[in-house]
Amino acid sequence: MTNKTLTIAYRSLQPDELAEADRQLIEAAIGATETSYAPYSHFRVGAAVRLVSGVVVVGSNQENVAFPSGTCAERCAMFYAGSRHPHEAPETIAIAARDTDGRLTARPISPCGACRQVLLQAEARFGCRLRVLLYGSDEVVEIPSVSDLLPFAFVSF
Ligand code: THU
Repeated sequence: MTNKTLTIAYRSLQPDELAEADRQLIEAAIGATETSYAPYSHFRVGAAVRLVSGVVVVGSNQENVAFPSGTCAERCAMFYAGSRHPHEAPETIAIAARDTDGRLTARPISPCGACRQVLLQAEARFGCRLRVLLYGSDEVVEIPSVSDLLPFAFVSF
């Protein structure tokens, strides 16, 4: 028997420590929160994906009365990117959210399990690393690869 440990390395930054390109991507994610359709949760989420070409694609959560039929901001943005730019790898995704009072969350929010699986597919599909920026007005978290968020993932069969 062998006991093993997994650790992940990530970075915690203040918003004013961000590189300009990352700041712009986060601004795009914040902007996308405005297009959210969240009549049930009133929790508006925005995601912005920067492709290797520098093109930025955004998405927001879109809810549905039949709850599982809606989708999160991250999957909205990723599927839109895949539809419009099928041959371009995504390089970084930024995620931001507004709480039910409409304020940007102080703490970063993190993608749900289903979104992690979808984000990971892009890494497998393009053989790339997809960096993740989680925005909070008090702290931004930078994770070098989606695979860090989903250890022991189901990746192929
Ligand atoms: N949501 C996202 O869009 N992304 C996340 O990372 C977490 C949750 C959405 C789903 C639902 O519309 C609302 O936020 C409340 O869970």
